[in-house]
Amino acid sequence: MSVYKFGVFGFPVSHSLSPAMHTAAFSALGTDNCEYKAYAVEPDNLKEEVLKAQADGFCGLNLTIPLKEKIFETGLIIPDDFAQKAGAVNTLKFQGDKIYGYNTDAAGALAALEYEGCETSGKKILIIGAGGASKSISLLFGERGNELKIINRTDEKAARLAAEIIEKTGNRNISGGGFESAREDLKAADIIIQTTELGMGKYEGVSLFDELSISSSEIREIMNEKQTVFDIVYNPSETKFLEEAKTAGAKTINGMMMLVFQGALAFEIWMGKKPDEKVMKDAVLNALAGKE
Ligand code: ATR
Repeated sequence: MSVYKFGVFGFPVSHSLSPAMHTAAFSALGTDNCEYKAYAVEPDNLKEEVLKAQADGFCGLNLTIPLKEKIFETGLIIPDDFAQKAGAVNTLKFQGDKIYGYNTDAAGALAALEYEGCETSGKKILIIGAGGASKSISLLFGERGNELKIINRTDEKAARLAAEIIEKTGNRNISGGGFESAREDLKAADIIIQTTELGMGKYEGVSLFDELSISSSEIREIMNEKQTVFDIVYNPSETKFLEEAKTAGAKTINGMMMLVFQGALAFEIWMGKKPDEKVMKDAVLNALAGKE
């Protein structure tokens, strides 16, 4: 029986929940001839490892940190329009002698908001952070015509990203700057998307409000119950930022369904059919419980 090979390349990659999530999705389809594994690939070996995967008959790969941008340097892939504009690829599809590149991260974020009943059309969105994750999410909402404000600790990075998205989308309702206007920006937004590392890893227990010395009583003045706050972090399941926003009355969403939907969209690109997203979600929940 031939095996259809899939996997995720990253460095480090041992923390990845993608093998659990995709293996569950393949099983739910009734296929026992698909395998999905994590491979630690250093950035300098990316070209060689992708070529090796192609020669080994791989069908598809996900790329994670720090390879999503690096893949462009290999000259191996044909990116779709969105991935090209975002400058980041998280999904590769091997077809004949071609390798196609896609970015399902931002569409995953949008799907997660919709799944939680958050209407995004015409809404004023505040994006916190100007790194890789912010870039594709900002691009997607810029393309959709939303009014966007991007704020970042390093203000010039946010200003640069805003200018880049205006240029790529023609949407002029986008601006970027530092944290000094955060109070007003938080107050004015319908939807707030937190894309930085605050709240996870070495920053677990730290929130944007701490960084800005905003007190809990002030948080309650700034935030309101009409707002939705989406933090793309999924581990911990509730960052301090989300907890504080929830206490102030906002609707909150964590990053778990974004993880599931970006995976489900990659699965669809490879398999030509939708996976069972509930099965993928349960696999993520189980894997997270096992890691605690
Ligand atoms: P990713 O691909 O996950 O977005 P990244 O490209 O390294 O990762 O970007 C990290 C983001 O988190 C940046 O917006 C970064 O802000 P700077 O551009 O000022 O570095 C933000 N970030 C990381 N640590 C932070 C902290 N302690 N306080 C505020 N922002 C932080």
